[in-house]
Amino acid sequence: MENCLEYHRATAHTFGSVRRPHYLDWSNYPSPYKFYRDVRRFKLLPFNALTQETLDTLYRLCGEGATENLSLQELSNLAFAMNGITKVENFHGEEFGFRTTPSAGALYPFELYFFVRDIPELPNGIYHYQPYDHSLELLSEGNYFESLQTALCSTVDTNVVAVITAIYSRSAWKYRTRAYRYCLLDAGHMAGNGVAYLKSVGLDATAVSLFKDEPLNRLIGVDGKEEFALCVLMSQRPALYWGEEFTPPETFPGSLPVVRKPIVYSEIEEVHSLGNLNSCKFYRNVPASPEYFPETSSLDLGKTLFKRRSRREFTGEPITFEQFRFLIESSLLCFPSDWGFPLTNFYLQVKNVEGLLDGIYTIKNDQLVQVYNGDFSREMAFLCLGQGFVAYANVNVIFTCSFENLNCRRYRGAVMEAGALGENLYLSAESMELGACGIGAFYDFDLQSFLSLDGRELPLYVVSVGSL
Ligand SMILES: Cc1cc2nc3c(=O)[nH]c(=O)nc-3n(C[C@H](O)[C@H](O)[C@H](O)COP(=O)(O)O)c2cc1C
Repeated sequence: MENCLEYHRATAHTFGSVRRPHYLDWSNYPSPYKFYRDVRRFKLLPFNALTQETLDTLYRLCGEGATENLSLQELSNLAFAMNGITKVENFHGEEFGFRTTPSAGALYPFELYFFVRDIPELPNGIYHYQPYDHSLELLSEGNYFESLQTALCSTVDTNVVAVITAIYSRSAWKYRTRAYRYCLLDAGHMAGNGVAYLKSVGLDATAVSLFKDEPLNRLIGVDGKEEFALCVLMSQRPALYWGEEFTPPETFPGSLPVVRKPIVYSEIEEVHSLGNLNSCKFYRNVPASPEYFPETSSLDLGKTLFKRRSRREFTGEPITFEQFRFLIESSLLCFPSDWGFPLTNFYLQVKNVEGLLDGIYTIKNDQLVQVYNGDFSREMAFLCLGQGFVAYANVNVIFTCSFENLNCRRYRGAVMEAGALGENLYLSAESMELGACGIGAFYDFDLQSFLSLDGRELPLYVVSVGSL
């Protein structure tokens, strides 16, 4: 494999590919939890109410916040906002926990780690977040912030840094080679929730995709192949750091495998390694804040995070132009990340929005521009592998990106950006009593030609939003 365009094209769904027989091996169903043996466990505090309104928070995601230390309560809330369990269902006698963050096929390939210092109730150290019982597992005690700065190529001015990883085999159990895309989308969704939480309590937040992979993976005790770091969340803007000091933990507690029989896809390991960085020679570009904030009224972010689910029961009833405007502006216009926002383009297939003609729109220089006029809801449902509910959405947002000059590290950024903005859409919709659902399953090339994209621009993700 030469580049990410090749990977993306090779993992496209086509009419033929989705009809080739593929059986799910239920005897090898992946565990959604990573269980460590013999670790010290620290119970976190229950997630407590947040009163900042969701739309207010989302509109201001790129605004400046404070760079201050987090308390135990704030760390507990951050962990929960990113990966907490908000619904438990019983499947064949076994309890299954659904999380704050959506995930393709509810396979939850992501894991969450924290570097922590100066929280009186916790020893300094590197921790793994255990969603199963909302606790932190101490992987190595000590202050590793010097080594963390070296791995991140950034100074760290606060006491908590989050790292999102993916164990790709969980997702690959169902989605095979296409799973790398879902790992990136899911990680973006999780980063979206983390950023929204930090901003809602007045802290700064940046999703950092540029770091040296090998040292960061070593610091959290993952091998960089089966499990790899994808995104770092800091409550500050990253700032250049050229130090070399690096002393990783000598040992880590053992963990149980998440699948009984190994699931290995060399294509995924290869495409990921093509994006690895081993020096600090990169350019970070964090977007500035938009200056326009309308008066809005929406549900509190805390309640929204708790209530968020993938909704498919759209009624098709019209939504107001104001709802549409708030949805799009609050979700798509900015995300505080270091990968050079925006790496994605958006196309909106719109139906039944009061005051707006049905059709396909795009956003150019923050302006809505109509590309085609008409009702394309049935075509969209067909393009999303015939998922009928897509036809009842008021807005289907299609994220695409141009692969021109897109190296594999920027590809990670682009797909995570689609996920993060997708999470904004979920939160924004939920806070206005609308529903949203991510769609990872679509005919890539047909959607590309439906939108008349040029050969090097391809779809990454679709998110449907509709009235309930
Ligand atoms: C990247 C991604 C792709 C998804 N693709 C689909 C899809 O094609 N069809 C669908 O009905 N749901 C899809 N979903 C929704 C998941 O099925 C859902 O998030 C998961 O079952 C967990 O449920 P919850 O979101 O209600 O917590 C997707 C979600 C994500 C994040």
